[in-house]
Amino acid sequence: MNEQTDQTAPSVRPTVLLGVTGCIAAYKSCEILRGLQKAGVRVKVVMTEHATEFVGPTTFRALTHEPVAVGLFDDPSDPIHHISLAQEADVFLIAPCTANVMAKIANGIADDLLTTTALATTAPLMIAPAMNVRMYENVATMANRGKLELRGVEFVDAGEGYLACGDVGQGRLADVQDIVNAVLAKLGIVQDLEGVRVLVTAGPTVEPIDPVRYLTNASSGKMGYAVAEAAARRGAEVTLVSGPVAIEPPADARIVRVTTAREMMEACEEAFHTADIAICAAAVSDMRPVEAAPSKLKKGADDALLAEIKLVENPDILATLGAEKGKRTVVGFAAETDDVVENARKKLERKHADLIVANEVGYGKTFGKDDDTAVFVLPDEDVALPTMTKRQLAERILDQALAIHERK
Ligand code: CTP
Repeated sequence: MNEQTDQTAPSVRPTVLLGVTGCIAAYKSCEILRGLQKAGVRVKVVMTEHATEFVGPTTFRALTHEPVAVGLFDDPSDPIHHISLAQEADVFLIAPCTANVMAKIANGIADDLLTTTALATTAPLMIAPAMNVRMYENVATMANRGKLELRGVEFVDAGEGYLACGDVGQGRLADVQDIVNAVLAKLGIVQDLEGVRVLVTAGPTVEPIDPVRYLTNASSGKMGYAVAEAAARRGAEVTLVSGPVAIEPPADARIVRVTTAREMMEACEEAFHTADIAICAAAVSDMRPVEAAPSKLKKGADDALLAEIKLVENPDILATLGAEKGKRTVVGFAAETDDVVENARKKLERKHADLIVANEVGYGKTFGKDDDTAVFVLPDEDVALPTMTKRQLAERILDQALAIHERK
């Protein structure tokens, strides 16, 4: 598998079909969409003609990178668009849903793409209504809602408050996060890191010898990026401090790009102030040249300098964070060629880490690979994990780090 395909492919991500109807709250659909995407969900949008009066399809197209359907005959390449949309959805969420669209769906009316898709889908249907309080409380609307609930449609109730029309009462679209959470719960996606701030280091550091030469470590960044991506999907606020790598950062992590270990140290010290959990997956170069030559060292003329590049130790980021962690949880990695667990345990103690993820490394092992066989080295036990993908290992590391953090 190459670096690109290591990203979550659309086909393996759950898909939510987001129906947007003609209501002043239609702009909030953009926030719902982003909240779902942040949790790793693929979102496709279908709109009613009236909805386009409030938010243009271009906005949703830009946010989803997918075509946005409005009319039944919009996509000439797909003559039965309502069926393909209906089949792709793991959940069909209509938010906001007007009284009119609720009434149509309750009565099996299918006179546009959105309502036809609602009739054609076997995916769970969820509705977040939004309308004027008197329309909301109208017996007709209540009866339609009752019918839909009997058919298993799940409602995310409208909130009370000041409505766009000036009235006060029930009818406001439910809180965006409540809608997102309800959909994620339906999809079985956990948000157990919501409110948790996670700092992740990833990739190698690069220490210049001269403008064209440098010292570095073997690291693709895949492990750290997988941790950052999984943490963001599980609701964490993520800061990813990354050395130079060739992979795309997760969309919802704050990324700080660095080159040298000293730059990485500075970025981590800053982010660590407000972090709850730090996961140091970077392959930091232990040493750096005392001085980077201002111009290229030439063979012949600079042989003496090239033969004796003086090195100095870099700061140890994990050990620095470990020493000042207080109630924060600090996780490190140990890349070892021999006596893996024993050496990892020494690192756990020396660097005041709460968990060391130990790996055996060697030529052709671990670096740049998608699979990993790791051991969790904890203060009072070692847990040998089966071989799994780095993405699966990332989830296990977060489970363990969260469990440690919650016990503190
Ligand atoms: N680490 C760090 N800063 C450094 C060196 C290492 O933060 N200057 C972190 C790594 O991100 C990793 C852990 O420390 O989480 C262990 O890294 P590793 O290279 O295995 O160990 P070293 O401390 O470099 O020890 P040694 O080279 O002696 O094995």
